[in-house]
Amino acid sequence: MAVPIHGSEVNAIEFALPYVDGSRSFEKNELIEQAYHETMVLEACKRQIKAPKFTYNTTKLQETLFTRRSQRGFHEGAITKGQFNYIMEMIHQPILSDCDEEVSIYVVVNRVLDMPLGLYKDGTYLAYGDFARKAGYLSLEQYSLSQQGAVAFFLTSKAKNYQALYQKAGIIGQRLYVAAQYMQIGCSGIGAYYDDEVNEFVGNDDVVLYALAIGK
Ligand SMILES: Cc1cc2nc3c(=O)[nH]c(=O)nc-3n(C[C@H](O)[C@H](O)[C@H](O)COP(=O)(O)O)c2cc1C
Repeated sequence: MAVPIHGSEVNAIEFALPYVDGSRSFEKNELIEQAYHETMVLEACKRQIKAPKFTYNTTKLQETLFTRRSQRGFHEGAITKGQFNYIMEMIHQPILSDCDEEVSIYVVVNRVLDMPLGLYKDGTYLAYGDFARKAGYLSLEQYSLSQQGAVAFFLTSKAKNYQALYQKAGIIGQRLYVAAQYMQIGCSGIGAYYDDEVNEFVGNDDVVLYALAIGK
C-alpha cells in the first residue's frame, strides 16, 4: 500500500519471500511445520525504544561492510584491551524492537592484552582461569575458532519468545562481526555447539542461542 509522507509516496516493504524448492525434493513434515508456527508466537512483549549509538566513521564502516568475511580459523593472536572494550560497547548497545528479550552475553577471555583469562559477563569476571580449550570444545570441538581465538562468546537467554530471541541474537552477532572487522580483527559465527555443556559451564539452564569467536 502506498502511503503519502511529506508529499512523496512511500511503498510498504514487501516482506513475503517467493518460495523456491531448490533441490526439488522438498517433503512437508507436520512436526516441523507445527514447531515453526509455535515458535512464531510472541507473548508479553516489551518494546525497546532506545536507539543504539555508534561511533563509526561512515566511510570506514562502508568499507568494512563491503569487505566483511568470516575468519575460518585463528592463529592465537591477541587483541588489545581498548579493542575489547570498544567491541563490548558496540554489542551492548540497545536494539530497537517490538519484542525485546534479555540476552546474556558470556565472554571467554583467551588473549586480551592486560586482561586476566577467564569467564566474563557484564563487566565482571565470573571465574578466572584458562578456559580456551574448554571454549573450543563447547563450540563442537572447533578448536581453531574458540580456543585459538582471542575471545569466545556464548549468547543465552531464559526468555520464551523464540523468534524474537533469535532475531536479537542474530543482530548482536552481526554487530560483533562489524565491530571486530572495523578494527581488523577476524570474527566467525558459530552455530554448532554443545548446548547442555555450555549451560553447565556458565552455570545456567538457558536456551543457548549462538556462539561467536573473534581474534587474529
Ligand atoms: C549463524 C552462523 C553460524 C555459523 N556457524 C559456524 C560454525 O559453527 N563453524 C564455522 O566454521 N563457521 C560458522 N559460521 C561462519 C560461516 O561458515 C560463514 O559465515 C559462511 O560460510 C559465509 O561466509 P562469510 O561470513 O565470509 O560471508 C557461521 C556463521 C553464521 C552467520
